[in-house]
Amino acid sequence: MADPLSDLAFDQLFREARTANAWQDKDVPEVMVRAIYDLMKWGPTSANICPARFLWIRSEDAKARLNPFLMESNIPKVMNAPWTVIIAWDEKFEDKVPQLFPHNPDAKNWFTEPEAHFDAAFRNGTLQGAYLMMAARALGLDCGPMSGFDRDGVDKEFFAPDKQMRHWKSNFICALGYGDDAGLFERSPRLTFEDANVIL
Ligand SMILES: Cc1cc2nc3c(=O)[nH]c(=O)nc-3n(C[C@H](O)[C@H](O)[C@H](O)COP(=O)(O)O)c2cc1C
Repeated sequence: MADPLSDLAFDQLFREARTANAWQDKDVPEVMVRAIYDLMKWGPTSANICPARFLWIRSEDAKARLNPFLMESNIPKVMNAPWTVIIAWDEKFEDKVPQLFPHNPDAKNWFTEPEAHFDAAFRNGTLQGAYLMMAARALGLDCGPMSGFDRDGVDKEFFAPDKQMRHWKSNFICALGYGDDAGLFERSPRLTFEDANVIL
């Protein structure tokens, strides 16, 4: 059994953490990105399928390629961030299931039906995106998740032409760095326990 984290940790991960809309002019080294992955990869997925894939946008050249596919209001949020990650899922995730779920060689066949295949990929890939954001926060970074972009356009620009990424499909993007509080609007409310929960 693990002990609960500290109140400070709850603040950093949830209560005080805000979605960043603007960024301090402070770089984030690649070692931090690797640290995010090394934490988030342990988050659970169905049959350990780990369908999420991550394309990290770092260079000015890569940002310029992403720019035309962004919703206008999201452009500065990406252009001014030290990193933006495209959280994708692998349409061929099942190829890695024998490696990832070695104690059941049949597991690959659990995802043959197209709807089950998509559900598993999208559900678990999205969960992994959430793990990534919480790992980044745990490491002291801020996140700016965004779905306001042209997914097909991004897939054609970055994934289709590339041998390693050609079966990846974008889900959402997340800018990462040290947030500038000047870009924050007032915290929006959340649903109460009574509004969002039922106990039977
Ligand atoms: C999957 C996802 C997609 C989002 N898409 C956008 C977006 O395209 N543009 C934007 O400005 N904010 C976007 N947001 C930010 C949300 O509006 C923000 O996280 C929410 O209002 C909570 O803000 P808070 O964390 O500061 O309380 C997105 C958030 C998530 C998780």
